[in-house]
Amino acid sequence: MTKKRLSDKVIAITGAGGGLGAATAKAMAAEGAALALTDRDAEGLEHLAQTLRETGAKFILKAGDVRDRQTHIDLHDLAIREFGQIDGLCNVAGILGPGTLDQATTDQFDQVMHVNCLAQLLAIQTFAPSMGRNCQSSIVNVASVGALVGLPLMSVYCASKAAVVGLTKAVAVELAPRIRCNVVCPGGIDTPMAKNLLSSVPPSHRDELLSKLTGRQLLKRFASPEEIAAVLVFLVSDESAFLTGAVLAADGGHTAW
Ligand SMILES: NC(=O)c1ccc[n+]([C@@H]2O[C@H](COP(=O)([O-])OP(=O)(O)OC[C@H]3O[C@@H](n4cnc5c(N)ncnc54)[C@H](O)[C@@H]3O)[C@@H](O)[C@H]2O)c1
Repeated sequence: MTKKRLSDKVIAITGAGGGLGAATAKAMAAEGAALALTDRDAEGLEHLAQTLRETGAKFILKAGDVRDRQTHIDLHDLAIREFGQIDGLCNVAGILGPGTLDQATTDQFDQVMHVNCLAQLLAIQTFAPSMGRNCQSSIVNVASVGALVGLPLMSVYCASKAAVVGLTKAVAVELAPRIRCNVVCPGGIDTPMAKNLLSSVPPSHRDELLSKLTGRQLLKRFASPEEIAAVLVFLVSDESAFLTGAVLAADGGHTAW
């Protein structure tokens, strides 16, 4: 029998109750990983747990807010108690934040930066000391194509995701060669986040927004969560052993021209 791509690996995933996080958890479980999962949405986590139980996957869950360092400490300690090691960390949790420029308050800016960027730093600070056996440990941060190009109604979001790219490169430098750290910049993904964005504008403006979001995409569609999860699987696997500090635009060609 061929060895699965992530067998023997323990991977922590934040935002596991959401569209991309849940797809990532299922894809990694199917490749043999044991999982440590967190999200502030306890119901979303439990929903995922039911599916994972049916497949016989090994996992632990801990609901919590990624803005709290304690959430990461609790998840880390539970994973070490249950599995004895940590090999991968996927920082998936994120929020969209305010829309137009005039809606962006200082508090909202702080909140978006906290969830989308500072929380990734807190997770990395917590998990990295336990990672690095065999130099095959990997951190994957999720940013957005909005880190690379401007997107409409998302200035604060774009700023936070650009910060994630900077964080990723600096972490890659500091933790090499023990731990790799890469960032994925997805284009639009068919998840609740994208649906909420579209429904936040009046129906008469939806087509215009959609064409601004996907108009430059060569593939002319949103990604499925599974298509982006496959990129995260690659990045935590040993197949990406020579990638660190890389910025992967999984954007359907949005930034190709
Ligand atoms: N959907 C898209 O079009 C798209 C495009 C590019 C990048 N992304 C990024 O992908 C990642 C996943 O987003 P998604 O599309 O699956 O959206 P989603 O809304 O389905 O999932 C996001 C998850 O993050 C969790 N979360 C948010 N704030 C949290 C907090 N403070 N503490 C703990 N958990 C929290 C939510 O509960 C949710 O389960 C995000 O970082 C997002 O920015 C999404």
